[in-house]
Amino acid sequence: MSSSQSFKSKYGPWALVTGAAWGMGAEFARQIGALGLNLVLIDIRADDMQQVAEEVRQKSSVEVKAVVTDLSRPEFIETVRRETEGMEIGLLVSNAAYPPVGLFFEQSLEDKLRMIEVNCRAPLMLVHEFGAKMLARKRGGIILLSSGSALQGVAYVASYAATKAYNLILAESLWDELREHGVDVLGFMPGATRTTGFELSRAHVERSTLATIAEPKPTVAEALRVLGRTPSWIPGRRNRWTLTLAQRLLPRKLMIKLVGSNMRQWYGK
Ligand SMILES: NC(=O)c1ccc[n+]([C@@H]2O[C@H](COP(=O)([O-])OP(=O)(O)OC[C@H]3O[C@@H](n4cnc5c(N)ncnc54)[C@H](OP(=O)(O)O)[C@@H]3O)[C@@H](O)[C@H]2O)c1
Repeated sequence: MSSSQSFKSKYGPWALVTGAAWGMGAEFARQIGALGLNLVLIDIRADDMQQVAEEVRQKSSVEVKAVVTDLSRPEFIETVRRETEGMEIGLLVSNAAYPPVGLFFEQSLEDKLRMIEVNCRAPLMLVHEFGAKMLARKRGGIILLSSGSALQGVAYVASYAATKAYNLILAESLWDELREHGVDVLGFMPGATRTTGFELSRAHVERSTLATIAEPKPTVAEALRVLGRTPSWIPGRRNRWTLTLAQRLLPRKLMIKLVGSNMRQWYGK
């Protein structure tokens, strides 16, 4: 059996990807489509998502359904339930996030609550909805997008980093609960990756060489490759080694200061 056939038989026939209009979500759609799975795409940006849907249909000859909905509203789940009725979703990629950058007390309470809604409540509701069906079928995969920022406190993205820690711990816990039931779960922790969302954050990357900027294509390929092999994963060899070694060797206080100093260079005035 080829690797694409085995991916399809493990995680097909349908995959659902949130935040699929841009960035890594769009790349997940392209690569999962190329592996032969039909796709349900979810995003708030209708036009960009339609373009991705059309591209995937043409290149991969799979069925693609694009659903416009706002994940910050709890009733989004009813729309998703209605639009996926009768489809067997074997792979869930919870990718969309609300990632505003700024000092904690310069961000509004509304912004902070939106991060909890989009980055925590929506993934939780999607996992609850589709994970239960995977468990009953004893087959499926779930990828929760976390971030390298989930590993320690990070100035300038305090709330965002905390929401990403929620996804990491949720994924790792479910990996253990579901691994004997045929359902693979992965907490995926990219570092800075060149997506539209990252470009819009206006990071002054030229001011610091501490972190490298990854590309979405190899990053997403890594997520699909390691799903089922590990509870969590940092893509990119350099990032993985640096973060893993630093976590083990450096005092947590120093780690927080180092990461914070990079953020001050990127986003400070
Ligand atoms: N890029 C990085 O450097 C990086 C690093 C670590 C982790 N990550 C994680 O990787 C994932 C993807 O990041 P990305 O940079 O590829 O994202 P992106 O380029 O910003 O794209 C995310 C997509 O999700 C959509 N979205 C946001 N809120 C939504 C909502 N309430 N309802 C429906 N759709 C919504 C966005 O629409 P709008 O633009 O209109 O909001 C956008 O189309 C995120 O979970 C992020 O936290 C990214």
